[in-house]
Formats: sequence, C-alpha cells, structure tokens
Amino acid sequence: MKKLIAVLLAGAMCASLAACGSKAEEPAAAPAETEAPAETEAPAEDAAAPEEDAEAAGGEASGEFTTVTEGVLTMGTNATFPPYEFYDGDDIVGIDAEIAQLLADKLGLTLDIQDMDFTAIVTSVQTGKVDIGLAGMTVTEERLENVNFTDSYATGVQVIIVKEDSDIASVDDLEGKLIGVQEGTTGHTYCSDDYGEENVVAYANGATAVQNLVSGSVDCVVIDQQPAISFVEANEGLKILDTEYVIEDYAAAVSKDNEGLLNALNAALKELIADGSIQEILDKYIKAE
Ligand code: ARG
Repeated sequence: MKKLIAVLLAGAMCASLAACGSKAEEPAAAPAETEAPAETEAPAEDAAAPEEDAEAAGGEASGEFTTVTEGVLTMGTNATFPPYEFYDGDDIVGIDAEIAQLLADKLGLTLDIQDMDFTAIVTSVQTGKVDIGLAGMTVTEERLENVNFTDSYATGVQVIIVKEDSDIASVDDLEGKLIGVQEGTTGHTYCSDDYGEENVVAYANGATAVQNLVSGSVDCVVIDQQPAISFVEANEGLKILDTEYVIEDYAAAVSKDNEGLLNALNAALKELIADGSIQEILDKYIKAE
C-alpha cells in the first residue's frame, strides 16, 4: 500500500506538467534527472518490503477468485502502444502480453487478450467484460475510483515529441500550441488541465497523433516515453524533447468486486518481480539508454 500512497502523492504534486516541470531541479516525490530515465526498472524493492511479503504469503493469494470465463484470464488492452502492446501479424505481443502470460501461468489459467479502445478498458474491467486491464496503464486517483490496481510492474514517463526544427524546446513553450495526445490517457488529462481543452487534439491512438504531427496538424505530441521512442524511430524528422516530464506507475486494473483475483495477481507479480522475470521482459523490449 505504501507504493500506492506514494503514487497518489506524486500525482498530487505533479498534477500538471508545468508544475512538475518548473520544479524539476527540486523534485518533491520523484527524483528528477537531467535526462528522462529509461522505463526499465521493475520495482524490485517492493519484493523486499517485509510487511508486503507477509501480506502476500499469508493473504488470499491461494484463496478464492473468479474469472469472467472459467479457467481463462481475460485481458483488455489497446494494442497501439509499442513496446507494451502491439501487433505482430495477427498476434498481440509486447511487455504486457508477456507479463500477462506469466501471470496466467502462475494462476493456472489460459490467457485471452482482447483489443479495444483505450477508453473502454476501465469500463470493461468494471462491468466484468474482462478480468484485467493491462495496457501500460497509469495508476491515477480518478481510475482508482472505478477499479483497483495491482502493485506496479513498471515506470512510465510522459514526454513531448516535436519536429526536429520545432521552436518548442521545453514544456514552458507549450502555451498556445496545439498538442496531440491519445484519447483518455494521462497525457490527455494533463494537457487539457494545463493548456486548455481547445489546445488539445485527442486521437484514437498515439500513431495517429504522431502522423498529425508529421503532417503539421498539431505542434507536438505528449505521450509515454517508450511508445514515443518507437514512433520517433518509425518517422523521419521527429525528436523527443529532453525536458521536464511526469513520472508514473503502470499497473493492472482489476474489478473492485474481485479482491481475490487482485490478491492472487499481486502474489504472482511479487514472485515474478523477485525472480527477475519481469525485469527480463522489460529488458527484452526496452533498450538501455
Ligand atoms: N500511461 C498512459 C495512461 O495510462 C497511456 C497508456 C496508453 N496505453 C495503451 N495501451 N494505449 O493513460
């Protein structure tokens, strides 16, 4: 629970890109570095937290849980978010797909991945269409009103993509610019709050937002760092600003009515973090800086 509280505090302190950015030299909750850190660190320290270990070992991990379809872990995702989830031919692959497979294995379930709009994931978890939402999804206070989150398995960073010759050099230059985002993401929320909805254009996915940056319909795109790296690699003439950012925790969303599953997933996650499996998956997809 400590981690969750830290996340909430970090969220409160970094409620806006601008507020966070202007304080980059004196970080309150999250250590700022001059360069945005690669999102490579599995939160291994959690595995060593004694109270949480006790909780996992003695908890309901071995206890009851139900799934939408018996014997199956149904995962809702939005496969437009490399390297967390993307299509390889007809298959959805990536960090989240691999982590979900390991979680399903631990729980003795088969995995079924369902692709949907990002904005549909939380509702699908809430209404019991899927068991978990796993989509590079940030733990936020707003989402916590509707779903539970497992412990975090990775860190995300909101970054800004611009054209190479852009006059936007930092988050301080975003005022009055047209910002592209993926609809329903934390980037969407931050930018709407800070720069006004009229200055934000929400697209169905990050790739479309980036296409609109290339064609000049928007001045920049605010999105998570790892997909940003993929999109910049796939398009000529773009760069990611080495500037202020918001640090976030990714976790799986689970229904508030399924505490048994939440506990089982957390116990499995704890083991997978402790034995290095999660880090191995992150390292496979995320190149060290
Ligand atoms: N981390 C951001 C959020 O939770 C973006 C996640 C987008 N994920 C996706 N699979 N499209 O809002």
